[in-house]
Amino acid sequence: MARIKKQFVCQSCGSVYPRWLGQCEGCGEWNSIIEDVATENVPGGLGARSGVKKGRIVSLHALNGEETPPPRLLSGIAEFDRVCGGGLVAGSAILIGGDPGIGKSTILLQAVARLSSSGTKCVYISGEEAIAQVRMRAQRLGLAESPVMLGAETSLRDILSTLEDAAPQIAVIDSIQTMFADTLDSAPGTVGQVRSCAQELIRFAKKKNICVLIVGHVTKDGQIAGPRVLEHMVDTVLYFEGERGHQFRILRAVKNRFGGTDEIGVFEMGDSGLREVHNPSALFLSNRNKDVSGSAVFAGMEGSRPVLVEIQALVAPSSLATPRRAVVGWDSGRLAMILAVLDARCGLGLGGLDIYLNVAGGLRISEPAADLAVVAALVSSLTGEPLPAETIFFGEVSLSGEVRPVSQAESRIKEASKLGFQAAIMPDNTKLRFDGTKISAVSHVQDLVDLISPEPVIQV
Ligand code: TYD
Ligand code: MG
Repeated sequence: MARIKKQFVCQSCGSVYPRWLGQCEGCGEWNSIIEDVATENVPGGLGARSGVKKGRIVSLHALNGEETPPPRLLSGIAEFDRVCGGGLVAGSAILIGGDPGIGKSTILLQAVARLSSSGTKCVYISGEEAIAQVRMRAQRLGLAESPVMLGAETSLRDILSTLEDAAPQIAVIDSIQTMFADTLDSAPGTVGQVRSCAQELIRFAKKKNICVLIVGHVTKDGQIAGPRVLEHMVDTVLYFEGERGHQFRILRAVKNRFGGTDEIGVFEMGDSGLREVHNPSALFLSNRNKDVSGSAVFAGMEGSRPVLVEIQALVAPSSLATPRRAVVGWDSGRLAMILAVLDARCGLGLGGLDIYLNVAGGLRISEPAADLAVVAALVSSLTGEPLPAETIFFGEVSLSGEVRPVSQAESRIKEASKLGFQAAIMPDNTKLRFDGTKISAVSHVQDLVDLISPEPVIQV
């Protein structure tokens, strides 16, 4: 058989070398060169070369065909099940990422306890806590009676044998950073270990048709060896977010091969574990003071669900050469853009002022639709005038200062009117008609500034 020609390719810049090098001469990157098979310009490619073994012919299918949807295992925790796309799917791998201490172990213990109580066979393997610790937690959560099979182990080989023997329908691995495969020399938690352990577990899940839930800590510094290296391998990626100081926790689906993404589940951390929050909008707005300036209510969408949150802004004279900009729960780059638009298109002169922006309740907003609410909060703080009562804001702001329509305006307004809001300031969308909600359409940020400020804002 003819030898296949080998070459060495830099993974960073794509330079090709006939032999291995420690440093790429093209881009200067270290350890980025790996072995590859050379593709030559022969008609027919690899298979056409004389003596090279041909591949098997794979059967091809039509897109249209009868497929039954996969059966789902329901935990009974509605917020959790919805984020998973309507329950857990057998033969799938789910990654749950989040900061240490945010509540990943708690939610998973609660989920498997509920599942096992309803007859699903569940194994919970902890590499971080001893059996006694997990038991104590279960007692605190009032789940000690549920028939979850508990294990404390970090050797992947032993875990796989145990799972093969116990044959559960659901297995939790807490956490992937503590697991090690003895086929590799590197320490647990390194990229190689994390990746190879996850690969083994995913392969096992597919082979035995069980659902594997893998916990992965997000590390603050660059997220090396964290869940990021696993995202492409698993079927579903859930992130558990929230501010430590707040009791709210948000479970967010960022990837789901068996359901929609961007779904969120909202929980409240209490003395007896995580409690579901069925109406997050009411909760996020519960502490709102309606008569202060700089507070705007944004009607956002999280997946299929509308969520109302309060956006707070504080604009204050600065004593620093470079004014301070602090943002919690929103993108600071986006704030810089909004400030530039307000300066350039409305002449508000915010450049020399300290600006603080906060999304109340610990929610992180990534929707551009929040732009208009941010503008309203900033202008209100600047003028010192509270915004019109019971009014929601949403709309995307472009660099030219125009206000662009956003999706699902109808759901946003419906949710707001359910909570007693009577007016909406939103992009021009003449198609929508609503009874009981006063709609003020704005097509430019200047329209909004004129609408909410009692007298013309002094232009600097
Ligand atoms: P944990 O689930 O251990 O976090 P992770 O697995 O993501 O690292 O959550 C630990 C935190 O949750 C800890 O700070 C204590 C708090 N907690 C409560 O407030 N109430 C409870 O009932 C439980 C079990 C934990
Ligand atoms: Mg934990």
